[in-house]
Amino acid sequence: MQQTICIAGKNNIAVNVLEYCLEKYQNHNNIEIVCIPTEGDKGVNGWQRSLRWYCEQHHVNMVSLTEIYEVENLLFLSVEFDKIIDVKKFRSNKLFNIHFSLLPQYKGMYPSVLPILFCERKTGVTLHRIREGIDTGEIIDQEEIKIKIEDSSLDIYQELNLIGAKIVIENIEKLLSGEFTCKKQKATGSTYFSVGTIDYKNLSLNLRCTAFQVCNQVRAFAFRPYQLLSYGGSGLIAGKVTKTISTQKPGTVLEENDICYIVSTIDYNVILYKDVLDVLFEAIKNNDNKNAIYYCSCKKIINDRDEHGWTPLIVATYFNNKEMVEWLVENGADIYTVNNNGTNLLMYAKEAYKRTGDNTLYLFYCAKGLRENMKDFFGRDLYYYLKKDGIELTTIKGNRIVK
Ligand code: TYD
Repeated sequence: MQQTICIAGKNNIAVNVLEYCLEKYQNHNNIEIVCIPTEGDKGVNGWQRSLRWYCEQHHVNMVSLTEIYEVENLLFLSVEFDKIIDVKKFRSNKLFNIHFSLLPQYKGMYPSVLPILFCERKTGVTLHRIREGIDTGEIIDQEEIKIKIEDSSLDIYQELNLIGAKIVIENIEKLLSGEFTCKKQKATGSTYFSVGTIDYKNLSLNLRCTAFQVCNQVRAFAFRPYQLLSYGGSGLIAGKVTKTISTQKPGTVLEENDICYIVSTIDYNVILYKDVLDVLFEAIKNNDNKNAIYYCSCKKIINDRDEHGWTPLIVATYFNNKEMVEWLVENGADIYTVNNNGTNLLMYAKEAYKRTGDNTLYLFYCAKGLRENMKDFFGRDLYYYLKKDGIELTTIKGNRIVK
């Protein structure tokens, strides 16, 4: 019997689910895979991968909602889809959604933000049936994640994107065959938040609260692709509660320097760390490592990324700043990081070699476990780029260092 899998949505979660489905079912005669990218998806990879771009690259049929209403044997997967699904319009009842919370809690909007503001220690993703209400259908599967004290809403969102794809992939066979079990959502403990809960156009830091609450506001709104909370003319990337009890009026600035403010609250003084990503990149580029390390006083910045997906480690690698690479890796920089095109650190080390003839960083990342066959989002690996640049693998892997 012919079946159709429709992936409706956006971002890494949708791309990861599609990638898996293509690998598993593309050569399956009876399964057709189609997608509905969201309207906001303009076909460009940014801080999240674009489902539309991926469909174009891999010749996946893109359809409209109305086209699939009539499909009888349909598995509909809503993964970060932005339209409310009218179940009555579908012939199929195999309609599922991933919601970024531990349902029945946090139905509706901002599920990667509100749990931080409400001081939750955990959140998660839920795979559920789509019913008439919002995020109300029976639960098929759920996975929890810890909210760490240093996590921003962007960190949570990224993690939920990954776990969300994983949970769909783990359940897809059961969803296809219809052999899944599900349980109704309880009314007790069920909460919902509408779009008006947060007014992103008028965000401001409220200092008439505890230092802990101030830090929670900073990290809840630290979502660089959209905004950082701004304070005193600077974006804020993180906060830190000090051990000093506030003796001044809440909101009094006690100290300010290049990287932070120290401000009083209703209990303890709090450090508010400024966004220094741009100046950090400049310092790394100029081999000004003393200042670069100073700008990394707030450890949060070490794995931060700009609009290209560049992290401090990517910049240090590209500019062959070996001392800074070593320092960043020792201080928790992620060596598996990639930019918005999926370019990995071994590829950046190849660029550094190309310009300087120094292969130290290339060998460093090889020793750390990065492999030449890792592909970027264009499906190209390092062998492809070496060939394009006319560089022999044996040469770049040799120990010859030209200064
Ligand atoms: P969005 O891309 O609208 O997706 P979703 O449908 O999952 O909410 O938003 C993703 C997250 O981005 C959202 O949970 C909170 C954050 N966000 C901001 O920080 N600022 C904004 O202006 C918006 C719209 C979202």
